Amino acid sequence: MEPLKLAILGCGTVGTEVVRLLHEQADDLTARIGAPLSIAGIAVRRPDRDRGALPVPRELFTSDAVGLVKRADVDIVVEVVGGLEPARSWLVDALRAGKSVVTANKALLAEDTATLAAAAADGDTDLYYEAAVAGAIPLLRPLRESLHGDRVTRITGIVNGTTNYILSKMDSTGAGFGEALDEATELGYAEADPTADVEGFDAAAKAAILASLGFHTRVTAADVYRVGITDVTAADVAAAKEMGCTVKLLCIAERRTDPDGTDSVSARVHPAMIPRSHPLAGVGDAYNAVFVEAEAAGQLMFYGAGAGGAPTASAVLGDIVAVARNRRLGRSGTPDSAYANLRIRPMGEI
Ligand code: HSE
Repeated sequence: MEPLKLAILGCGTVGTEVVRLLHEQADDLTARIGAPLSIAGIAVRRPDRDRGALPVPRELFTSDAVGLVKRADVDIVVEVVGGLEPARSWLVDALRAGKSVVTANKALLAEDTATLAAAAADGDTDLYYEAAVAGAIPLLRPLRESLHGDRVTRITGIVNGTTNYILSKMDSTGAGFGEALDEATELGYAEADPTADVEGFDAAAKAAILASLGFHTRVTAADVYRVGITDVTAADVAAAKEMGCTVKLLCIAERRTDPDGTDSVSARVHPAMIPRSHPLAGVGDAYNAVFVEAEAAGQLMFYGAGAGGAPTASAVLGDIVAVARNRRLGRSGTPDSAYANLRIRPMGEI
């Protein structure tokens, strides 16, 4: 069987792990897919940089992402660069040309899944993005596929590892926000610029993606009410503790049926006190967990590593196998799940 060829866009923490796993697990992946995978090229900003022991020939690295995506022999485009542009243009070109796309780009999906989904429909091809929310935790495909016969009513999650580390530290040691943030930075959890994490932008993007899939409605990051954790004090955490609670940055997406029978959805991200008996209260360190409530399924809890190179690469690899199998079997086209178009309720509406 002819190999399926991958174009990998980006080779940072996640991309490096994707390349490593593709190499290490090549035989298993071939067996699972029924065809081998081969890397056609890796687009990076600096192709000449020394990449240590990465098991790929140097000549596969290129700075020409556009040229790589357009190559006729490329079947699958894997994007782990992030950001809106140029990632959106690359992925739209790839999808319209019928290439399968695997992306971890939560910012782009939270802003403009509509454009990507339309391009995937034009190209009759697959758009998979399990790694965009909660790293290794299998969550988006359960929402998109396994729960498709059910009605999801609420999704409550801890979807940002950095803020969960900070709040857990404040809870266990009595530290203030600044001290806990410094520790998160030293340990490599928080970025040099932690704004997206501590102000809740990262969690809001993930909330938009979860709400969109859970409620089959296009919810964007701009629809998500957002408050970060920068104003949470040691005194707030201590007061919560006194009341048998802990403070967590939660994303909460809800579906509601009004007395007139119309359904609407809302999504929000803010610090919240939760009782220590709640399943999310025990989620410590930089872990993520998402609690899903559905009419028939009841309560489901998804828990695990929400960030990091290898855990995120695990989700990317799972998607690569899925789209590669689809191509081999001649199945194509991910149905766009945003068909319900429920009204999005603004925060504050009773
Ligand atoms: N900054 C994110 C977090 C990385 O802390 O969870 C994973 O999206």
